[in-house]
Amino acid sequence: MTSLLVTGIGSLVTNDPSHGGPLGEILDAALVIEGSKVAWTGRRADAPVADNAIDVAGRAVIPGFVDSHSHLVFAGDRAEEFAARMTGTPYSAGGIRTTVAATRQATDEQLTANVARLVTEMRRQGTTTVEIKSGYGLTVADEARALQIARQFTDETTYLGAHVVPADYADDPAGYVDLVTGPMLDAVAGHAKWIDVFVERGAFDEDQARAILTAGIARGLQPRVHANQLGEGPGVQLACELGAAAADHCTYLTDADIDALAQTGVVAGLLPAIEFSTRSPYPNARRLIDAGVTVALATDCNPGSGYSSSVPFCIALAVREMHMTPAEALWSATAAGAKSLRRTDVGHLTPGAQANLAILDAPSYLHLAYRPGVPLVAQTYVAGRPV
Ligand code: NIG
Ligand code: FE
Repeated sequence: MTSLLVTGIGSLVTNDPSHGGPLGEILDAALVIEGSKVAWTGRRADAPVADNAIDVAGRAVIPGFVDSHSHLVFAGDRAEEFAARMTGTPYSAGGIRTTVAATRQATDEQLTANVARLVTEMRRQGTTTVEIKSGYGLTVADEARALQIARQFTDETTYLGAHVVPADYADDPAGYVDLVTGPMLDAVAGHAKWIDVFVERGAFDEDQARAILTAGIARGLQPRVHANQLGEGPGVQLACELGAAAADHCTYLTDADIDALAQTGVVAGLLPAIEFSTRSPYPNARRLIDAGVTVALATDCNPGSGYSSSVPFCIALAVREMHMTPAEALWSATAAGAKSLRRTDVGHLTPGAQANLAILDAPSYLHLAYRPGVPLVAQTYVAGRPV
C-alpha cells in the first residue's frame, strides 16, 4: 500500500477529540494517508516518513463535507418559480409535480448525466459523501430507476416515494399510500438504505407517514423524515417515536419537539439554503444546540425549494443567519452529517477513517464563512485520491 505525507498544513481540522478543542484542530500539521485511509495526523515536526509527499504551503485541511440530504435525480429546473418567489409568491410543495412530469419524460442517460454533473459540482466544493433521494418519479418504475441511478454515485440512497401524492392519484391518496408501501417498496428495497416521508400539510399526514415508514422499516430500510418545514406539525415527534436517524428541515419547532430530539438523539438536519431560496425564516440552531440536540447542516439540493450544491454556502448562512459559530457549522457539516447517516468512517480524520478531505485555499476553516461565495476548495480527496 502506498503512503502519502501531506505536510505544510497551516491548520488541520481532524474532528478527533484526542487532539482537543471542539474540532481537534492541529496547527502547523501533517497527515499521512495509506491507501484509502488516514494513517496518522499530528504536528509537522513529528511526521513519519512516507513513500510520497506533498507540501500544501500553509493551506488548511478539513474533513470532506458529509451532505446528508439531497434530491439529485431529476430533470429540468424551476428557475421561474424561484424568480416569482423573490417577488413575493410563496413556496408551494405543489411545484414538485412539475419536476415529476419532467423527470418521467427523461431518459436514464439524461438523469444519470444530471446526477453526475451535480456530484462533480459538489466534489469541487469539498463534499465527499452525499445522500441522494428518489422522489421525482412516483411510479414503481420511475422510483426504482431513480434509486438505481443514485446508487451509481453513493451508498447513501433514500427511497422518497412519499414525496407528494402525484397528480394521477390526486383523488385516491389512500391508494397511493398502498402503492408506496406495496409494489413500489418491493421494487426499490434492494436499492435503498433509507426511507423518507415528506410529513407536511399538502404532502403526507401523521398516520400515512407512520404507515409508510413502518412498512419500510419492516423491509430493512432505516427511517429519516422531512419534518416541520412549512409549519409546526407531527414530523419531528414521529421521527423520534420511530427512532429515525434524522429529522430534516426543523424550521418550525415547539419546545416539546426540541425536548424529544434531545431525549432521543435524533439528529436535526438544518438546510439553510432552503430558507434562503424560499424566503422563509431560518431555523433556530442556537436553541437546538443549547438544548443538546445534534445539528447537521446539509444542502437539500433540489430544483424547487433550493438549488444550491454548496456546503460552504450553507456554512456561511448558518454562521451569519442561524447564530452558529464557525466551528459549530463546520462540525455540523462533517461529523454531524456522518451521524445523520449513521456512518463512523467519514466526517473526521482520525487514523483508520476514510481519507476524505478538502484542501482549502485559505489558512483556516474560518474563511469558509468569512469569504462567502469564494471558491475556496483547492482540492478534494475521496478515499485517498484527488478527485
Ligand atoms: O426538501 N420538502 C420537500 N422536498 C424538497 C422540495 C422539493 C421541491 O420543491 O421540488 C425539500 O425542500
Ligand atoms: Fe428535501
